[in-house]
Amino acid sequence: VKLHTLAKSKGKLYFGTATDNPELTDTAYDAILDDGAMFGQITPGNSMKWDATEPTQGTFTWTGADQIVDLAQANGQILRGHNCVWYNQLPSWVTSTTWTAATLTSAIQTHCGTLVGHYKGQIYSWDVINEPFNDDGTWRSDVFYNTLGTTYVQIALEAARAADPDAKLYINDYNIEGPGAKATAMLNLVQTLKAASVPIDGIGFQSHFIVGELPSGIQTNFEAFTAQGVEIAITELDIRMTLPSTPALLAQQKKDYTTIISACQAVTGCVGVTVWDWTDKYSWVPSTFSGQGAACPWDENFIRKPAYDGIAIGFGN
Ligand code: G3I
Repeated sequence: VKLHTLAKSKGKLYFGTATDNPELTDTAYDAILDDGAMFGQITPGNSMKWDATEPTQGTFTWTGADQIVDLAQANGQILRGHNCVWYNQLPSWVTSTTWTAATLTSAIQTHCGTLVGHYKGQIYSWDVINEPFNDDGTWRSDVFYNTLGTTYVQIALEAARAADPDAKLYINDYNIEGPGAKATAMLNLVQTLKAASVPIDGIGFQSHFIVGELPSGIQTNFEAFTAQGVEIAITELDIRMTLPSTPALLAQQKKDYTTIISACQAVTGCVGVTVWDWTDKYSWVPSTFSGQGAACPWDENFIRKPAYDGIAIGFGN
């Protein structure tokens, strides 16, 4: 069974994957990526980020992002946009300018409005805000928060809504999948935004996990969010291990994939699942966490791992 087809048959909108421009030259990779029955949704892993799309203030470059949007559309795959405002992968002009509240507000409005507007009508959902919180639930100290306080969130969301009224607008973060201080901070933010009539449609749970270390209470936590009137999605799923992989680790990883997918399956407002690339060959994990990897449902030779069946079981197959 192919995973997007399965997810659809179980009432979800999509099962999808991140991808990135450099790996698109790998024709064996493309043969699986382009299968709309396997992946009904695509997220560009890097090419919509601020450094890629507005490297110089006011000058926009769409080459990398357009390539992935074109590919997804040719394959009949919907898109998640990633992302508008994030502390990381910022061009140096954003981090080195001496901003006032007024000039940074204008820069955010121009960036989000132009980026979201360029793809108007073509993106299912946008990660408008990415990773606003520290793990203890306090606000991340970055150029946006330090200049504007929490108002940067509203500024970006309103600019995105104006640029594409049909796109679902998300805030996306990690370590909010289970209950805890960071999840509570995100829940409080949703309530605050809703109460102020700021446009917010969804919360993305990145779900970068470690084998055997998934939090408990994921489904209950998901339900606390959907109860606030937002949809949710699993946006960057992978489950890494300390290498080398062993049959025991792969078996635990299969169980862990089932655990997270079944939590989404059990919650009506969880619309879909995206893996943060489908093959270990192109996973971000080994270059970030030395000695760790094997986080994806396909191995580096594009062979399905036990995790693949774990996903299918999670969707109820
Ligand atoms: O673009 C430069 C290139 O010019 C240079 O030659 C090359 C040399 O290393 O680096 C390239 O930049 C890399 C960039 O990916 C584009 O390939 C960076 O070094 C590398 O750090 C960067 O990693 C990305 C990472 O975000 C950065 O934080 C990963 O590919 C990407 O998968 C990852 O994705 C993030 C999500 O956006 C947010 N959530 C967490 C997730 C995983 O970290």
